[in-house]
This record gives sequence, C-alpha cells and structure tokens, in this order.
Amino acid sequence: MSTLNGKVAVITGGNSGIGYATAKKLKAEGATVIITGRSTEKVDSAAAELGVKGIIADVLDLSAIDAAVNLVKDEFGKIDILFVNAGVFIPMPVGQNSEDGFDTLLDINFKGAVFTIEKFLPILNDGGSIINLSSINAYTGMPNTAIYGATKAALNSYTRAAATELAPRKIRVNALNPGPIATPIFSKTGMTEEQLKGMGDMMQNRIPLKRYGQPEEIAEVAAFLASDKASFITGAEYNVDGGLNINPIFAA
Ligand SMILES: NC(=O)c1ccc[n+]([C@@H]2O[C@H](COP(=O)([O-])OP(=O)(O)OC[C@H]3O[C@@H](n4cnc5c(N)ncnc54)[C@H](OP(=O)(O)O)[C@@H]3O)[C@@H](O)[C@H]2O)c1
Repeated sequence: MSTLNGKVAVITGGNSGIGYATAKKLKAEGATVIITGRSTEKVDSAAAELGVKGIIADVLDLSAIDAAVNLVKDEFGKIDILFVNAGVFIPMPVGQNSEDGFDTLLDINFKGAVFTIEKFLPILNDGGSIINLSSINAYTGMPNTAIYGATKAALNSYTRAAATELAPRKIRVNALNPGPIATPIFSKTGMTEEQLKGMGDMMQNRIPLKRYGQPEEIAEVAAFLASDKASFITGAEYNVDGGLNINPIFAA
C-alpha cells in the first residue's frame, strides 16, 4: 500500500518514540519524510537509520523553527503533512508545580507546537494535513499532570479553531490523544526504575486492553489522518488509548 505517494511530510521530535515510528510508517506509505529534533546526535543517527532527512530544530527557539522551514523550502519546496509531535512529560504535584517546569511544559508542548504550525503554514500545500500529538491527559484528572494536561487541552483547543480557519484552504487539522504508549518519554522524567514500574503497573491495570500501546499503533492512525482516506475529517480528536477513556468503573 502506498497511500502517501508523492507527499512530503515533516515530523517534529522524529528521532524517538511515536515520531520515529510515524516517520517509518509514512515513508513505507510512500511519503518523503523529514524529521526534526533538538539533539544533533540523536537526529543524525535516527535519520540515518530511517533513511530520511534530519534537521536540528529545538522548538523552544522560534528562530530555529524559521531556519528549519527555510531548509525544507530550499530542498523540498512545499510540504503536505505536518506531524506536530515534539513534546515532553514533566510530572509535578499540585502545590509543588515549579515555574521552571511550568514554563518548559508550556513552551515545548504548546508554544512550540503552535509556532511550528504558524511557521510551516506558508509552505504547507492547500489540501494538506496537520496532525497534532495531544494526549488523553487533556481530559483526565491524573495526579501530577495538571500542567502537562493543560498544555494538551490548549493544543486541542487550537486544533479546533485552526481546523475552522484553515478549511478554506482545504487543510485538515486533527489531534491524536494517545493513552500510555511505550516510549522513552517516561524514563526522561528522572523517575527511578521502581517508580516507573509502579506507575506502569497502576496504569496498565486501569486500561481495558490491559497493556501500554506501541508507538506503531499511533503511527497507523497518524498515517490514516495524513492520507486522502481521511479527506472528510477535520477538527477531530482520536483517542488511541486501549479504552482508558471509557472509565469502565469495573474491570471486565
Ligand atoms: N508516550 C506516551 O505515553 C504519550 C502519551 C500521550 C501523548 N504523548 C505525546 O506524544 C509525543 C511524543 O512523545 P513520545 O512518547 O514519543 O516521547 P519521546 O520518545 O520522548 O519523543 C519525544 C520527541 O520530542 C523531542 N523533543 C522534546 N523536546 C523538544 C524540543 N524542545 N524541540 C524539539 N524536539 C523536542 C524529543 O527529543 P529528545 O529525544 O532529544 O528528547 C523526541 O524526539 C509528545 O508530544 C507526548 O507528549 C505521549
């Protein structure tokens, strides 16, 4: 199957986890893929493994996003797919939310996402697809995620208004809300192995399908939303969470 033949896709945070799996999937579907990320070493090695173009652009630095847009424009002209995926998870309890943690979460997960879109828009073809990587934490009251969840709720809100405003250009804007997915994001928090295992066991228990998702399972939905198969879908959110948001009360 080659649902994305001839399309050019940019994936932020493409050197790891969901972004990496999606780069692989979009390439397999025929797209020309460009990944971005903040670490030269990680981006270069992932780009080489995937056989795609890698660009260093920390979304905390808006001038770096400008530079990435110019590089893409010079080499590829216009793009068709923008997967706004770069993000971080910083767990903080209410009462101990630090200003640093707050700023980092907002600046990467919301401001970085918004300005990625704003800056790539001039080179996004009419009829293109923007997919924002949000989280079911936009809707849950999970402990330690008050600020993280707020960044994702803000992104979903931006998604809806952007879908309306970009409809005249036939650009579709959608959001993906994953549940817990097995990626390095959790080990980057500084939590110990024991804490990670405790959190993992607790979350897995509450998921009706009783497991974490795999990044490839998010990539499948991203590839669908990127393709013309999703031609009548805009302003939508897809929960890809093993049923977590059902809130089943009793386990089956
Ligand atoms: N895994 C989950 O359970 C889960 C659930 C819901 C939503 N999400 C969301 O899914 C997205 C991808 O996360 P993941 O789980 O795949 O985690 P991941 O493996 O840590 O990947 C995150 C990617 O974003 C990059 N990134 C972080 N800060 C950046 C910055 N300032 N500038 C540019 N790139 C930056 C990371 O670079 P480095 O490798 O250099 O850190 C990495 O490439 C995030 O938006 C996350 O919030 C994840």
